Amino acid sequence: MSKIKSIVAREIKDSRGNPTIEVELETDKGIFVDSVPSGASTGVNEAAVVEVQQAIKNVNEIIAPKLKGQDVLNQKAIDNLLIELDGTENKSKLGANAILAVSLAVCRAGAASKKIPLYQHISELAVGRRTSHRLPMAMFNILNGGAHVRRTPSDSRGVDKLAIQEFMVIPDKNSFAESLISCNKIFNNLKENIEKNFGKENLDLGDEGGFAPPISNIEQALYLLKNAVDGETDVKFALDCAASEFYKDGKYKIDGRELARTELLEFYEDLVKRFDIISIEDPFSQEDWQGFESIVRQLGEKITIVGDDLTTTNIKRIKEAHNKLACNGVILKLNQIGTVSETIEACNLAKSYGWKTIVSHRSGETMDNFIADLAVGLGADFLKAGSPAKEERMVKYQRLLEIEKELK
Ligand code: PGA
Ligand code: ZN
Repeated sequence: MSKIKSIVAREIKDSRGNPTIEVELETDKGIFVDSVPSGASTGVNEAAVVEVQQAIKNVNEIIAPKLKGQDVLNQKAIDNLLIELDGTENKSKLGANAILAVSLAVCRAGAASKKIPLYQHISELAVGRRTSHRLPMAMFNILNGGAHVRRTPSDSRGVDKLAIQEFMVIPDKNSFAESLISCNKIFNNLKENIEKNFGKENLDLGDEGGFAPPISNIEQALYLLKNAVDGETDVKFALDCAASEFYKDGKYKIDGRELARTELLEFYEDLVKRFDIISIEDPFSQEDWQGFESIVRQLGEKITIVGDDLTTTNIKRIKEAHNKLACNGVILKLNQIGTVSETIEACNLAKSYGWKTIVSHRSGETMDNFIADLAVGLGADFLKAGSPAKEERMVKYQRLLEIEKELK
C-alpha cells in the first residue's frame, strides 16, 4: 500500500504549443508525473475538457484534498471517486483533462507501490491476475492529411490537402525493434520520393509526424506509400479517414468530389481491392451508423473497420456499435473517456466481442509514454503513435523497445 501524500497540477505545452495539464503525485515510493494530450479531430461524444487553468484549479483545490491519504492501489475506487466528485455524464464539471491526469499518476504510483512495471500493473487491473505479455503491432502514421495539416488551396502551392487524415504502415516483423527499423526505411524512402517529386520545400510534417506533400488525391497518396515500401516485405497499410471532418450536409468531400454514402463505400471497396489495406478507421461520419453498417457488411470479413469518433472509448457507444454491427475494431484513447478504469472497461468489452483493439495517441501529444505500457498491459492488438520523426511520438516507441527487451 502507498498513500497519496500530495497532488499538484501545473501547465505544460503540448506538441502543438497549446497549454495542457500535468500532474505530480507523491507517495512514500516517490513522485509520479503524467500529462494529458488533446485531439484536433475530436468526436462529439468525447468527455469534456475544461480550460487548462480551470483544470489545474480543480485538481489543486477540489481533487487533491479528497484524494490525500488514499491508497494508490485502489485504482477503481479512486477513479469512481473522481467520477462522483465530477457528477456529470461527460466530466464537464471538473474536466476530463483534470480527472485523467490524476488517474494516470495514480496508476503509475500503483505500479511503483507493487514494485512491478506499469504494463504489468495495468494488466493486473484489467484481468485481475498475472498474465504473460505480448507487444502490440505498431501502426506508423507517415502521411498526414485532414485536420492534422494546416494548408488550404489558397496557399501558394494551390493544392488542397488530403481528405483522409492518416496513412499508416504496419510492418509485420518478428519483433517491434525490427518493425521500427522497417518503418524508418520506408519513411526515408518516402522522404526521398517526395523531395524528388515535389522539392525540398515540401518536406514539412503534419501534427503526427507524417509528411504532408501538396497532393489531394487518395490514390496518389497510396501509390506514394506503396513505392516507399520498396523492397521491405510484409508491410500492410491502414487508413484513419476521420470522415466526420469531410462530411457536410449528407455528402463526403473527398478527392475534389462530393460523394454520397454508397459512393464512398464503393470508393473504399476499390481501394481495398488494389492496395494492401488491412484496417480502415472512421470511414464514415460519427453519426452515420448506416455508413458503418454497410462497410462492415461489405468489407468486415476481410479487414478491420475501426470506430474512433464513432465509439469514443465509451462503453455505451461500443455496445451500440456492437448491436448495430457497425465495427469490428475500436480505438482506445484515455482522454476520450477520462479515467484509466473506464478505458480498461472499454477494452475488455471490445475484446469480449472479438474486436481488434488499438491504443492510440492524440494529435496534440506530450512527452508522456503511458500509452505504451497501456497497450502492452491491455494486450492490445495495435498501438497507434504517429511517425518516429517526432520526439513526442518516439518516446512511446522507445518505451515499447524497453518493454520488449524486458520481456525477452
Ligand atoms: P486526433 O486524431 O487526436 O486529432 O483526434 C487522432 C485520430 O483521429 O485517431
Ligand atoms: Zn481516428
